[in-house]
Amino acid sequence: MKLRNAIPVAGLVLITVAALFWWLNKSPDAATVIPQPSVAANIQSHAVLSTDPVAAFLASHWRDPLPPQGKPPAHFSHVEASLAPESCGQCHQEQFRDWSQSLHSHTMGAGILWQFQLMPQEDANKCMKCHAPLAEQKALIAQAQAWPNAPTQAPPAYVPPDLGHQGLVCAACHVRNHQRFGPEPRKEIAAVLPHDGFTIAPAFSDGRFCATCHQFPEDGPRTNNKLREDTYAQWQASSYGKAGQQCQSCHMPDRKHQWRGIHDQQMVTKALSTVLTRDGNKIHVDIINTGAGHYFPTYMVPKVTVELRYHEKGAAKFTLLASDVIGWNVDIGLEQELFDTRIPAGEKRRISVDLPAGYSETGIVDVYLLVKPREHYERTFMSVLDQRDQLDAKTLGLLETAYKEAVATQFQFTLASHPLTLQ
Ligand code: HEC
Ligand code: HEC
Ligand code: HEC
Ligand code: HEC
Ligand code: HEC
Repeated sequence: MKLRNAIPVAGLVLITVAALFWWLNKSPDAATVIPQPSVAANIQSHAVLSTDPVAAFLASHWRDPLPPQGKPPAHFSHVEASLAPESCGQCHQEQFRDWSQSLHSHTMGAGILWQFQLMPQEDANKCMKCHAPLAEQKALIAQAQAWPNAPTQAPPAYVPPDLGHQGLVCAACHVRNHQRFGPEPRKEIAAVLPHDGFTIAPAFSDGRFCATCHQFPEDGPRTNNKLREDTYAQWQASSYGKAGQQCQSCHMPDRKHQWRGIHDQQMVTKALSTVLTRDGNKIHVDIINTGAGHYFPTYMVPKVTVELRYHEKGAAKFTLLASDVIGWNVDIGLEQELFDTRIPAGEKRRISVDLPAGYSETGIVDVYLLVKPREHYERTFMSVLDQRDQLDAKTLGLLETAYKEAVATQFQFTLASHPLTLQ
C-alpha cells in the first residue's frame, strides 16, 4: 500500500526526464510502472546465485520490464535495424509465415484490448510482460491508449507504428540491445552475416524458455490451491519431463514456429487415444492422454465435451449414450473450483455406460468431441456483456469482437469409431 501511495509523486518527478528516454536505453517503465522490488530482487539474486547458465540467461533475457533496444549500430541497414516481424521475414521467410498464423502473433487481440480500456497503465504493463513484452511495444500501446504516461515523441524508424498490436513478435523472443539470440545453429553458417550475426543461447531449446509465460511461480495466483498456470510443472512430473523431452519437440517440431495447441484439431487428435472394452451390454470407453506433455487440457480455459454416440453401421442417426466434460471448470470470479476432470499425461478417464435396448452386434460407438478452446473466456466475456450499459462504445465494440472470436474457435469432430464386435 505504501508503495502505491508513493508512485504518483515519484512518477511525476521522473516523467519529464524519462520522456526523452522512452525509445532509448532507459526503461520507460522506471517512470510509469509500479516497481515490484520483491520480484525483481528475486530474479536478480537468482541470476547471481545460479550456477545454471540456462537459468541465468533466462533471468536476464526475460527480466521485467525489458529495457528499450536503444540506438541500433550505425552500420545496420534499415531492414537489419527494424524490429518489425515483416523485416525479419524478408530473410527468415518460413519462420515469418508460420508465426503469422500462430497464436503468438495474436496475443494483442480484442480479448486483451477491451480489458486495457478499463485498466490503469501499470496493470496493463504487467499483462504485456507476456503479451507484448518489448519496451517499444508498451510505449506504442501507451500512445494508442492515450495513457497519461505515454511518450510524446514519435517512435524512431526501427520501431514500426503497429508493433504494439503485433503481439509476441520475433524480436520479443530473439532481440535484446539490437543483438540476435538464437539456438545452436543446425547448418554451416557464413562467416559474415546480416545483423552482426547472432549469439548462441542453448536456453532456446529448453522448456524453461516457455515457462517464462506458461508457468506461474510458486507464489502465483491459485484456485483450490492449484496454480492457475502450471504447464511446466505438469510437464516436469510427466514421463516427457523425466525423459527431458522439451516443449519445443512437440510445439516446434523441426523448429517450426507454429505453436499449435488446443485450438488445432490435429493436435487434439494427437493428444488422445481411446479404447473400448465390453462387458455384455455394458461398455467402457477409456480416453487416454497419450500425446500431450501435460494435463489435457493444461489449464482452466478450454473445455472438451466427449459424447459417446451409438449408431448402426452406415447410419447417420445415432443414440447419445453419454456426455462428459473434460477440463478444469472454475467460476468467473476464479474463486471456486466447480470440477477438475483434466487428464494428466499418461493417464485416462473412463466413461462406462449401458448399450441402448435393441442394440445390434454390428453397431458402432463413436467418440465425438466438441472442443471449446476458450470456454472460460466465453463465459467471462458474456457476463460483462450483460452489463453493456456501463461500457463506452469502443470498449463494447472490442468486447463484442472478443466474444465472437472466442466462440469462433469451437470445433467438433469424430475422434474415433469403435465397432462393438471386432470383425
Ligand atoms: C538481411 C537478412 C536478415 C534480416 C533482415 C534478419 N535476419 Fe536473422 N539471420 C539472417 C541470416 C543470413 C542468418 C544466419 C543463419 C540463417 O541463415 O538462418 C540469421 C540468423 C538469425 C538467427 C540465429 C538462428 C540460429 O540458428 O540460431 C536469429 C535468431 C535471427 N536471425 C533472428 C532475426 C530476427 C528476429 C530478425 C528481425 C528482427 C532478423 N533475424 C532479421 C538474415 C537476416
Ligand atoms: C515465443 C518465442 C519466439 C518467437 C515469437 C519467435 N521465435 Fe524464433 N525461435 C524460438 C525458439 C524457442 C527457437 C529454437 C527452437 C528449438 O531449438 O527447437 C527459435 C528458432 C529460430 C531460428 C532458428 C531456426 C533454425 O531452423 O535453426 C530462427 C532463424 C528464428 N527462430 C527466427 C524467428 C523469426 C524471424 C521470428 C518471427 C517471425 C521468430 N523467430 C519468432 C522462439 C521464438
Ligand atoms: C505469465 C504470463 C501472462 C500474463 C502476465 C498474462 N497473460 Fe494472458 N495469457 C497468457 C497465456 C500463456 C495465454 C494463453 C495460452 C493459451 O491460449 O493456451 C493467455 C491468454 C490470454 C487471453 C486469451 C487469448 C486472447 O488473446 O484473447 C486473454 C484475453 C488474456 N490472456 C488476457 C490477459 C490480461 C488482461 C492480462 C493482465 C491482467 C494477462 N493476460 C496477463 C499469459 C499471460
Ligand atoms: C513472452 C511470453 C511467451 C513465451 C516466452 C512463450 N509463449 Fe506461448 N503463448 C503466450 C501467450 C500470451 C499465448 C496466448 C495466445 C493467444 O491465445 O492469444 C501463447 C500461446 C501458446 C500456444 C497456443 C495454445 C493454444 O491455446 O492453442 C502454445 C502451444 C504455446 N504458446 C507454446 C509455447 C512454447 C512451446 C513456448 C516456448 C518455446 C512458448 N509458448 C513461449 C506467451 C508466451
Ligand atoms: C509430448 C508432446 C508435448 C509436450 C512435451 C508438450 N506439449 Fe503442450 N500440447 C501438446 C498437445 C498434443 C496439445 C493439445 C492438447 C491439449 O491441449 O492438451 C498441447 C497443448 C498445449 C497448450 C494449449 C492449451 C491447453 O490448455 O492445453 C499449451 C499452452 C501448451 N501445450 C504448452 C506447452 C508447454 C509450455 C510445454 C512444456 C512445458 C508443453 N506444452 C509440452 C503436446 C505437448
